[in-house]
Order: sequence, then C-alpha cells, then structure tokens
Amino acid sequence: MEIELEINDVEWTVDAAKSDSLLDVLRRNGYTGAKRGCDTGACGFCTVHVDGEPVKSCVEPVMNVEDASVETIEGLGEQDELHPVQQAFVDNTALQCGFCIPGMIMRSTALLEANTDPTEQEVREALSDNLCRCTGYKKIVEAVLDAAERMDGGTAVAADGGKAVEGNERVANSTECTVNDCDCMEGGQ
Ligand code: FES
Ligand code: FES
Repeated sequence: MEIELEINDVEWTVDAAKSDSLLDVLRRNGYTGAKRGCDTGACGFCTVHVDGEPVKSCVEPVMNVEDASVETIEGLGEQDELHPVQQAFVDNTALQCGFCIPGMIMRSTALLEANTDPTEQEVREALSDNLCRCTGYKKIVEAVLDAAERMDGGTAVAADGGKAVEGNERVANSTECTVNDCDCMEGGQ
C-alpha cells in the first residue's frame, strides 16, 4: 500500500506493508539517523517528532502517520550549521558511542520547544524514556541545559570549560592565572 506523509518538509509517497513501523519506512528511505535499538519501545533510540511530538518510531505503525509531518535528526541541522542542541551535545562531549544521541537530541528539542527554561529535574524527567549505556546521563543533561541557554540567546559555557558561546558566536574561553605575574592562562595553580 502507499502512505503519504511529510518527512523533514518533503512530501513523500512511500510503499509500505501494513505491519511496517514508522522506523522501518524511515530507514528504508534513507533516514538512518533514527536508530534501531530494542525495537520494542523501551530504549528511545528511534525517537523522531510526529506533528511536533516525540514518538518512538519503532512502535509507531506507519499507517498511523498518514498525512502527518515527521521530523528526523536529518532535518534539524547541517553538518556545518548544527542546531543549537546538536552543537551543545558536541561542545559538552555528551556522547561516547553516540548510538542513543539522535533520539536524545530529538527528545531534547521537543522538551525545549515546550519549556525554554527547564530545571535539571525537568530535563531528567523528559529524557527518562531514552536510555544511554555509555555516558551516565550527566553530560547529556548538562548539554540540554546549555542548549536551553543558547536558544534563549544567552551566554553559555560548555561544561568541559573548553568553549564559551555568546548567542551563535563561539569565543575562546581561557582563565588567567592569578599566581603573581604568571601568564600561563591555566588558572591559579
Ligand atoms: S528502538 Fe525504538 S524504543 Fe528502542
Ligand atoms: S553514547 Fe553510547 S549509548 Fe549513549
């Protein structure tokens, strides 16, 4: 059967079986950013937006998204012009293997569209359906809080101290040494 839907602002008519999930159809048509982890709705690796809401695409029958607007991580930003949430994940080194990250980022962008200034607890609750086996969540949560500041036009400093961001402009972040006349820029030793 044929299903019509919009993927990242492009109209698609896709061939699909009744048993296909949205994830099956996305990956078959080149949208491989959504990952297949558990395939049972438990891990969140396959999270995309359907009409603006985060959805686990592995357990979403494609028949349910007829005429819907689907956004995948490929629709968020370009390699040289990342979405602020993507950039915050990079700058905060919020990933190791990266397999969970597309789903984490899609979940995070949905959160920040609904709540521009979340608390750490709200971020943790929003991400609670998305599992990560590598990072222990700390850096991921820091990245989302950092992204919230960036999207608010404020100044954010990556948790690793390596970069500072003012609006969209990245600036160097260094700390002058306070010991006598030392100029090592490493901070007080
Ligand atoms: S692959 Fe969809 S929730 Fe795990
Ligand atoms: S970074 Fe490896 S699963 Fe999350």
